[in-house]
Amino acid sequence: MRKIIIDTDIGVDDAFALRYGSLLFDLIGITTVDGNVPVDMATKNAKFFCKIYKKNIKVYKGASRPLSIKPTPPSFDIHGSDGLGQAYENPCDAKADNAVNFIIESVKRAPGEITVIAIGPLTNIAMVLNLYPDFAKEVKELIIMGGAFGTHGHTGNMSNFAEFNVFKDPNAADLVLSSSTPITIVPLDVTNEVQITADEIQKTHDDFLINISKFYLDFSIKQKGFNGMAVHDALTIAYLKNPDNFKVIKKPCRVITDGIAAGQTVIPLSAAPSSNNCFKDLTAHKICIDVNVDAVKQGLLETLTLV
Ligand code: RIB
Ligand code: CA
Repeated sequence: MRKIIIDTDIGVDDAFALRYGSLLFDLIGITTVDGNVPVDMATKNAKFFCKIYKKNIKVYKGASRPLSIKPTPPSFDIHGSDGLGQAYENPCDAKADNAVNFIIESVKRAPGEITVIAIGPLTNIAMVLNLYPDFAKEVKELIIMGGAFGTHGHTGNMSNFAEFNVFKDPNAADLVLSSSTPITIVPLDVTNEVQITADEIQKTHDDFLINISKFYLDFSIKQKGFNGMAVHDALTIAYLKNPDNFKVIKKPCRVITDGIAAGQTVIPLSAAPSSNNCFKDLTAHKICIDVNVDAVKQGLLETLTLV
């Protein structure tokens, strides 16, 4: 069974991804990063997730702030003040070993075998590459929920141009995407297309997912008048489960790191030669730009449904 590590800023849609991934693959560890919530809270939440589902999966704590920009606020308005919809009293503590070391040691011990799935800001992954450049050669694949390229009009959820995970640490994202790591990007172009309704969540009979989603759904109803939610992070697992449900292009990708478009993911749009080609010699990564919505929803909901 494929070995995966999920790097997360666990909020609500992260919990869907963790549940989905732990049901389908060998989840050998969960690493946490500052993003939706501060890293200590993400660590508590990841431990609580394992407690709820009685999973003996070790949690490791990662970066508490972006590589270089000033930290930006958490997403308590969407995920609740505890990151899990304010649905439970979380008794877990935030003590944990180092996430960056865990990722490095895991990939070193099993070259070509570990798939890393990054569903929060890329700070930990950037630190892994800084400390262990061979990660790029030895990781089996890095799947990233992040970025936006404009398909179906999806250009950003933190600004006109930037998706949250990339916006939170654009320098880390640019460092990771400029590396030769084999990367698949799962951007808003596809994650915004897959909306799960409150009724569909109810039909999973998974009380934890049902309860933590209520806050997020209330936000969605108030903001968009829609009683449903995009389970952004879970689409990384859906891609890993069946990549044939996704339309993919292969392009090098960079990140704008300052100004009004800070956090924007960009790809070369013209073959015209340029004296200052910022994509020169960069690895072309897989970028998902379309998705079979029905097939992905069916696969997700069937797997999440408790029989
Ligand atoms: O833009 C969506 C991403 O930002 C998801 O990973 C969500 O959990 C938030 O972190
Ligand atoms: Ca996330």
